[in-house]
Amino acid sequence: MIARLQALEDEFKSELEESSAKDAVLSLKTKYLGRKGLFAALLKEIPTLAPEDRGAAGKAINILKRKIEEELDSRIETISKTERLQELSSESIDVTLPGRIAVSSGRLHPTTMIMDEIEDIFLGLGFDIAEGPELESDYYNFEALNIPKDHPAREMQDTFYIDEEHLLRTHTSPVQIHVMENSPPPLRVIAPGAVYRRDSDVTHTPMFHQVEGFMVDRGVTFADLKGLLTLFLQRLFGKKTPVRFRPSFFPFTEPSAEVDIGCVICRSKDSACRVCKGTGWLEILGSGLIHPRVFESVNYDSTEFTGFAFGLGIERIAMLKYGIDDIRLFYENDLDFLTQF
Ligand code: DAH
Repeated sequence: MIARLQALEDEFKSELEESSAKDAVLSLKTKYLGRKGLFAALLKEIPTLAPEDRGAAGKAINILKRKIEEELDSRIETISKTERLQELSSESIDVTLPGRIAVSSGRLHPTTMIMDEIEDIFLGLGFDIAEGPELESDYYNFEALNIPKDHPAREMQDTFYIDEEHLLRTHTSPVQIHVMENSPPPLRVIAPGAVYRRDSDVTHTPMFHQVEGFMVDRGVTFADLKGLLTLFLQRLFGKKTPVRFRPSFFPFTEPSAEVDIGCVICRSKDSACRVCKGTGWLEILGSGLIHPRVFESVNYDSTEFTGFAFGLGIERIAMLKYGIDDIRLFYENDLDFLTQF
């Protein structure tokens, strides 16, 4: 019996070695340990042995049976573990991998980008941001800003009128009036937004954007205006950008100035430059000290308070910064154009 058990163990070992799949190991288990398996058969033989041999034989059979059982179970467990690991690694998702379908994301419009940049500069200088309506009354757009009835801007060719009293604002300056009507000085405010004019060519679209800015306090002077606008323009266009102030006229400021920067296209070096027309300078904004009549219309005491104001066109700035020569491109919604910025 002992010799037979030894042979059985050897056979089992070689069979186990060849069985790497779980199914094969399971059928080995049936073959050896099943109800009609080899060990069941061996145990049935015990009564046929000589009585003095039965005890030892039974013991030896059971020891080997347990040993085989343990080996089979541990083999099944190892196989299950590797299977589970394989399953996990084949099912795992690397969330850092890019998706297979390219998702195209939106982006900011170039005028929005310039607007954000300008807002950031002024927020850093302690300015607040205000907004006003795009549908305005004649009063806010013209009258309160000291724009007389015979001013050319009031012409039908220039302004989109809704009715006799209402129009699409032609500039952001009326926001000055709304803000000053509602809050006493001191004030430091910028007001970005869309404005409308009946105009269309390579440098004009019927809708475009402006940023208005103004500051009111005791003792605000033209020197404050010059200092602030120089700082702003050099932050926007670069530290070394030349800035100059030229006397000008606006009904709502006195004195008034237009502000130029050195040409950012030819760096003032090309007498044939198409953008600055060889002058070396680009007109960037209008400005001045707020006219006492404007203060009167909002009930500010112009003997106590002074202030400055300025206004600039966003698209024009974007065109200069990005070297775009036709303003209409901004509003054609051509993705090849818009995705460049
Ligand atoms: N409102 C003027 C325009 O649309 C721009 C402007 C000029 C605004 C001078 C101002 C200013 O506040 O002081 O052309």
